[in-house]
Amino acid sequence: MEAGKSRRITVLIFSGALREGSLNCRLADLAESVVKEKGGAVRRARMSEFDCPSYDQEIEKDVGIPAGAQLLREHLIASDAFIIASPEYNASVPGLVKNVIDWASRFRPQPFNGRQGLLMSASPSMAGGNRGLWALRIPLEHLGARVYPDMFSLALAHEAFDGNGRIANHTLQERFEATIECFLDLVEAAKHYRPLKKLWVEYLGERPNLETDRVEHTTIEPG
Ligand SMILES: Cc1cc2nc3c(=O)[nH]c(=O)nc-3n(C[C@H](O)[C@H](O)[C@H](O)COP(=O)(O)O)c2cc1C
Repeated sequence: MEAGKSRRITVLIFSGALREGSLNCRLADLAESVVKEKGGAVRRARMSEFDCPSYDQEIEKDVGIPAGAQLLREHLIASDAFIIASPEYNASVPGLVKNVIDWASRFRPQPFNGRQGLLMSASPSMAGGNRGLWALRIPLEHLGARVYPDMFSLALAHEAFDGNGRIANHTLQERFEATIECFLDLVEAAKHYRPLKKLWVEYLGERPNLETDRVEHTTIEPG
């Protein structure tokens, strides 16, 4: 894509970490600047805004879906795609990230269905939190999100950033930018050319049954 050209797409970006100085927030900051440099618009959110009580079906019935999950839903609906920079906890996805996904999955239409997603992680470890991303893919793909095949995991992240918040290693910085650019190309194509997959069937293969079926048409319309 030509430099400076604007794409008509909006990307929701947030980190799965709460803490001040989080490495994943820094990676999300960098993703925000690269998306903007490549012509996309960004809706930036913080994990603290999505904080929800532990999922409880009784709370859902008596009180409703908490404000944090409502906000995530609003951001998803207003965006064509999302990028999550998530820490890895014990080789998996942090509980609070999974918790807000579970809450948000209770809305109808279900807001992850048909949205394009890119996953990234940062960790001081050598694997960069990549195992957590494989765990994060599972609920998102289950919910009909189109999770981009490539993921970006920043190893030794505590010493990986330069003073401008970019990745000090040029090759890695270029790879990061290329991953985001290819993702944005796909998001743009999916927005302007109707995706082939139009239906989300939660339990594919079960005998059709009105009581248990959860089948939704993709809600995203081409812009
Ligand atoms: C409960 C817990 C479990 C963790 N498990 C892992 C792990 O499995 N793999 C890993 O690379 N780092 C693990 N870490 C270290 C985190 O990657 C590190 O604290 C990182 O800085 C967290 O992300 P943040 O900087 O965005 O907050 C764990 C940290 C905590 C608090």
